[in-house]
Amino acid sequence: MALLNVDDYRRRARRVLPRLVFDYVDGGAEDERCLRRNRDAIEALPLVPECLRDTSTVDIGIELFGRHWRAPFAVAPIGLAGLVRPRADALMARAAQAARVPFILSTASNTRIEDVRAAAPDATLWMQLYVMGERAIAERIVRRARAAGFEALVLTVDVPVSGLRERDLRHGFRVPMRLTPGTVFDMARHPAWLLRLARGGMPRFENLLPDDDGAPVSAQTQAALLSRTMDRTLTWDSLGWLRKLWDGPLLVKGLLGEEDARRAVRHGADGIVVSNHGGRQLDAAPASIAALPAIVDAVNGRIPVLMDGGMRRGSDIVKALALGARGVLLGRAPVYGMACGGEQGALAVLRLLCEETERTMTLLGATQVRELGLHHVDRPSFRSPTEQEGGSTHPKENTHGKPSIYPMQATA
Ligand SMILES: Cc1cc2nc3c(=O)[nH]c(=O)nc-3n(C[C@H](O)[C@H](O)[C@H](O)COP(=O)(O)O)c2cc1C
Repeated sequence: MALLNVDDYRRRARRVLPRLVFDYVDGGAEDERCLRRNRDAIEALPLVPECLRDTSTVDIGIELFGRHWRAPFAVAPIGLAGLVRPRADALMARAAQAARVPFILSTASNTRIEDVRAAAPDATLWMQLYVMGERAIAERIVRRARAAGFEALVLTVDVPVSGLRERDLRHGFRVPMRLTPGTVFDMARHPAWLLRLARGGMPRFENLLPDDDGAPVSAQTQAALLSRTMDRTLTWDSLGWLRKLWDGPLLVKGLLGEEDARRAVRHGADGIVVSNHGGRQLDAAPASIAALPAIVDAVNGRIPVLMDGGMRRGSDIVKALALGARGVLLGRAPVYGMACGGEQGALAVLRLLCEETERTMTLLGATQVRELGLHHVDRPSFRSPTEQEGGSTHPKENTHGKPSIYPMQATA
């Protein structure tokens, strides 16, 4: 089967990975409504081209936090990626380096911060932070990330507790992995994956293990991370604590509400990632792309707004940019590539999405990302169900009196 698009990579990943690993990557929380909502809302959003414009050169690059990104996306943090391939974090960082886009390393990664840097010395690396009960752990991660030349810190705020991932529960999936006859059979049917795992060893949360400096990590904290029981005393005021540790860009990932976006600005965040964690946390959460316009309005250009959730095509990325995102994060898409072909597979997905983004922009008549805007989005198609039943055909007005777009109203 030719691998022409992200969906092809997903289908191949499903074949080459044990079902339990594929489901860990692919799945969402509870009934997976949020997971589907992300896709439905993106798909329901048409783009309107502007024709007869000179598109002889199209540049999909952006500038953010003093860096040039070759494409308007970064690779999102993925915990436990080592289950897909040994050293997946380092391989992904290398793929991002080759594609000249940033890579965000998860706190729940399986490769040491320093080793990721050594594997991708020229990459733009960001560190994602989970804050667990023992704050000293987070402090140590932040210090190590800074020493290794990571450029931004991304505090994930949508995991006070792990979402209920029922696919994982059905497989009896847990870390450390407990082998049951079912999982042994599942793995035995994927010998190439199994052989790699046997060579690379079971993934561990390397960045939470005792470090060279001898600072111990308590069993309690390891257990907390495994069950993703985070520090629930973390509040907006805690940003001040992080600020003291980190003088680079500090982003907050996992916001979906306008008021939270304003709080992030007030508390000194340098950027926001609108995200529902790829539908893996609150299943009743809105599609990220549906939450995006109101947040862009609320932030009003004071800090960059990024978004993630459901990006599978270049046109999806362009839609997010047209709605005001400065860039997007790619979660599962490059992981499917990693499953199919390691570093080269992930890079192939990133290149594919570059090409699709460029082609979409060319078809829209946009030669630069900054030319994308609401005029490229077919707003009347987002009439709410009541409007569709014969009411007004005008886009909804928000509290600022500006037209606003809520795809979820069309797709809920
Ligand atoms: C397998 C998997 C593991 C993830 N681990 C983390 C993580 O450790 N930290 C984090 O902030 N987000 C994590 N996420 C969420 C992603 O960073 C991102 O928000 C989400 O995947 C975007 O949606 P998409 O997969 O539809 O692109 C994870 C997502 C997946 C699929």
